[in-house]
Amino acid sequence: MSTTEQTYIMIKPDGVQRGLVGEIIARFEKRGFKLVALKLATPSKEHLEEHYKDLSSKPFFPRLIEYMMSGPVVCMVWEGLDAVKTGRAMLGATNPLASNPGTIRGDYALQVGMNVCHGSDAVETAKAEIELWFGKEGINQYKLASSSWVY
Ligand code: TYD
Repeated sequence: MSTTEQTYIMIKPDGVQRGLVGEIIARFEKRGFKLVALKLATPSKEHLEEHYKDLSSKPFFPRLIEYMMSGPVVCMVWEGLDAVKTGRAMLGATNPLASNPGTIRGDYALQVGMNVCHGSDAVETAKAEIELWFGKEGINQYKLASSSWVY
């Protein structure tokens, strides 16, 4: 069943430094999602370790955290029908080698360690990630304007 959801999408340091911020935002806008939170952030090591805590036992974890600290990230919350699943589909597979052309990773990434963007993998994960990155108050609630001034 389709439901209106919020998902946490983050442009990683390589995406910011390669100038892909506008491109990635444009893809979510054009797909029809509504932007409800947005910021550029330089998270602490502890914050990133919390975000990726489920991966803490993986051998690549220290490299992942180091890479995520290599520059600012763009944090966003997008809202819409099936935002979590559709967001993941728009990102493409974790390993860019397996990502289809037309997806963000399939179009812009080559290595699994530097795959441009993050997207929540489940509705519950999205809730936790949104709270971690934006707190309870950080989400903008608004209705899209009436057609009187949207042309
Ligand atoms: P994961 O949560 O499995 O993937 P996704 O980002 O698609 O939800 O992994 C988080 C990040 O960890 C992934 O985007 C890139 C990095 N990573 C590696 O560096 N090496 C690996 O072998 C894997 C599986 C992930």
